Amino acid sequence: MRISVIGSGYVGLVSGACFAELGHDVTLVDNDPVRIDALRRGVCPIHERYLPELLERHGGTRLVFSGDLADSVDDAQAVFIAVGTPPTINGEADLSYIESVAREIAAGIKDYKIIVGKSTVPVYTSEWIRKVMLRNGARADLFDVASNPEFLREGTAVTDFLYPDRIVIGTSERICADRLRRIYEPLVDGSYSQRAECIPPCKPGTGPPPLIVTTPKSAELIKYASNAFLAMKISFINAVSAICESVGADVDQVREGIGSDSRIGRQFLNPGIGYGGSCFPKDLSAYRAVARECGYDFRLLEEVMRINNEQRERFLRKVRNVLWTLKGKRLGVLGLAFKGGTDDVRESPAISIIRSLISDGCRIQAYDPAAVDNARELLGTENIDYVTSAMEAASNADALLVLTDWEEFRTIDLVRLREVLRYPIVIDGRNMFSVAAMAEHGFIYSSVGRADPESVSSLRPKQVQGVP
Ligand code: UGA
Repeated sequence: MRISVIGSGYVGLVSGACFAELGHDVTLVDNDPVRIDALRRGVCPIHERYLPELLERHGGTRLVFSGDLADSVDDAQAVFIAVGTPPTINGEADLSYIESVAREIAAGIKDYKIIVGKSTVPVYTSEWIRKVMLRNGARADLFDVASNPEFLREGTAVTDFLYPDRIVIGTSERICADRLRRIYEPLVDGSYSQRAECIPPCKPGTGPPPLIVTTPKSAELIKYASNAFLAMKISFINAVSAICESVGADVDQVREGIGSDSRIGRQFLNPGIGYGGSCFPKDLSAYRAVARECGYDFRLLEEVMRINNEQRERFLRKVRNVLWTLKGKRLGVLGLAFKGGTDDVRESPAISIIRSLISDGCRIQAYDPAAVDNARELLGTENIDYVTSAMEAASNADALLVLTDWEEFRTIDLVRLREVLRYPIVIDGRNMFSVAAMAEHGFIYSSVGRADPESVSSLRPKQVQGVP
């Protein structure tokens, strides 16, 4: 099928490349000429596993890049809108980019197309797109509007797209549902995974996904409610981990005990320094605003956000408890991205923690496998050195802080780490190491919700081994 994807951000780019991988002819449209030019030259603008392979496989053939929206829409049978919906100062989603795309589509529409919302949007957005198109001269029989939310996680977006848990299609029109069903057919009938050259799933045994057809409003709500529920799980386990710390219980054991209940499940129960990224913080505020506008005071979401912010403060309190004073301290930092596997630093808890530490007078030596360039844009270079390895970050530091869950940090050489640190202190915001292994290697180790061999509160500077 001929598909046009408007917006070459993370959702548009991944969706466009994956539609091409499924066998469709895709035009990816963006009004940023620099980005389009880079994509045409084969440059992959984001750190996303398997995306460079897909761009190489299909770029210039089944996947072409264009700055001309009208032209690409003219040719397309399905138009996916994947432009940004940044938050306004009130926390609502700014839908002006979607509106202007709808206006442009309406201006040139000549034959029947489906217009599909992929951006994360409030309820009623599909209705608004329809109204805007009609107001701008599009004939009602030439289009239908659907909602088809994405559930991609950065870092695993390609495999999330090709091996989804479910595909949600929100439309009340049969012809529109049928067209979308055809687009996703290779996933729903399982044939994609049988292809010799398919991208492998990240977890084996993933069966074909159900295709869930709903009304547009339900589909729009499914997206917000899913993100809100996942964020709630994270805040829940973070709150549990705070209690574990107070009573001396171990959050890993508690997670195992509650997560093995299939009604609860193990996923998204990793405590840490709170969720970040371009989705959860923005979507929770927007969902809260949507609920308020509909007359429902969704205070649970406020509490989820409060616990999330508090988690960063708790981490900073741990740093202060272990190090006593911060002014003039040299701190190694592992991780700048909002989570492992991505170069994205938007709303990264690591960035906000580093900002606080710098304003308290610390000097930072930071390492991240992918996010240094993006972090430099936010944090600048004053009082922070960006280094190229974990050992360099730790070198001669008063303590090492772990702020992002990159897999490579788990396998760090602990013997060498102890040697290069000025003091053997590791404060781990992502529970990357085992408490026993850290004790065995002689570290003073503080993590989240797990019993420390020595209680954190007892770590006054004079008691720290090796500290004069
Ligand atoms: C999230 C959702 O997981 C996707 O389903 C959704 O499509 C996407 O938002 C979106 O709306 O576009 P993403 O923001 O890429 O995906 O990242 P997640 O893997 O969900 O992680 C979000 C944050 O929660 C990260 O900061 C991560 O470190 C944190 N997290 C995650 C935890 O602290 N604990 C966990 O157990 C899981």
